[in-house]
Amino acid sequence: MKHFFSISDVTDLKGIVAEAIELKKTISNFSSLGKGKTIGLIFFNSSLRTRLSTQKAAINLGMSVIVMNVGSDGWKLEMEDGAIMNGDAAEHIKDAARVMGAYCDIIAVRSFAGLKDRKKDYSEEVLKSFMKYSGVPVVNLESSTLHPLQSLADLITIEEYKKVQRPKVVLTWAPHPKALPQAVPNSFVQWMKNADVDFVVTHPEGYELAPEFMEGVTVTNDQNNAFKDADFIYAKNWSSYQSYGQILNTDPAWTVSSEKMALTNNAKFMHCLPVRRNVVVTDEVLDADYSIIIPEAKNRVTSAQVVLKRILENL
Ligand code: CP
Repeated sequence: MKHFFSISDVTDLKGIVAEAIELKKTISNFSSLGKGKTIGLIFFNSSLRTRLSTQKAAINLGMSVIVMNVGSDGWKLEMEDGAIMNGDAAEHIKDAARVMGAYCDIIAVRSFAGLKDRKKDYSEEVLKSFMKYSGVPVVNLESSTLHPLQSLADLITIEEYKKVQRPKVVLTWAPHPKALPQAVPNSFVQWMKNADVDFVVTHPEGYELAPEFMEGVTVTNDQNNAFKDADFIYAKNWSSYQSYGQILNTDPAWTVSSEKMALTNNAKFMHCLPVRRNVVVTDEVLDADYSIIIPEAKNRVTSAQVVLKRILENL
């Protein structure tokens, strides 16, 4: 593996999930794999899970870790090629990425969508600039449109908890007071489409995800119907793609409740976290036995470990 930007960087989906699960038991055999290597974790945005789990995975593999909050601590970066830099930005991404690449063997970057300019967000200029200029493998820690380490962790969790060979997995939109990016649902759709699951997406009208992700996916605006026979409920809010970045609906009828979970086939409940309790999903669901949000979060270490191992083996 060179970069880990999206599912396209994985040639064997079943293989990487199996390897990740095996690696949970055998990680101590690889504690020197990253010896003498440094990973730079570059954050343009806040994080709890991604920061700690990627750091832990790198430490488990024997790597040194540098963390930088570029959003708050770094120079403001210019992204445009050929820009006359007489504004706020003190440094061009071209130079910043090259310098970081000179210090690190792997660079991992988090840079969220601005949710103002769809074309700009969907061009993935930040992650693509790092891949273009840094000269080292780049790992996506959640970009404008994708969160592949989360989706890999989600798929690993589904594999570990499924009771039937081909479970029904439902991605449901849920309300939220803030406009959130489409990165998690986009990625989740990509990974579920390629996994051995029956996959259904449910959301209110106006929340259709980008067509490039949704081709061939079953979509319904009837959440109750979608929940029937489900083995896994995956809740997530996202803002509108069509009316880009807008909140069109805050209807609490879409909140995942125990009554809704009762419609399922004793489904497990999943959410990538952080979660707004009693807005996206009720306390009762989050704290129920069928909620697997903590093992899911724990598997963020599992997914980061297997990705970093594959990149280190290819250095
Ligand atoms: N799920 C996730 O990416 O969490 P953080 O935003 O806290 O990293």
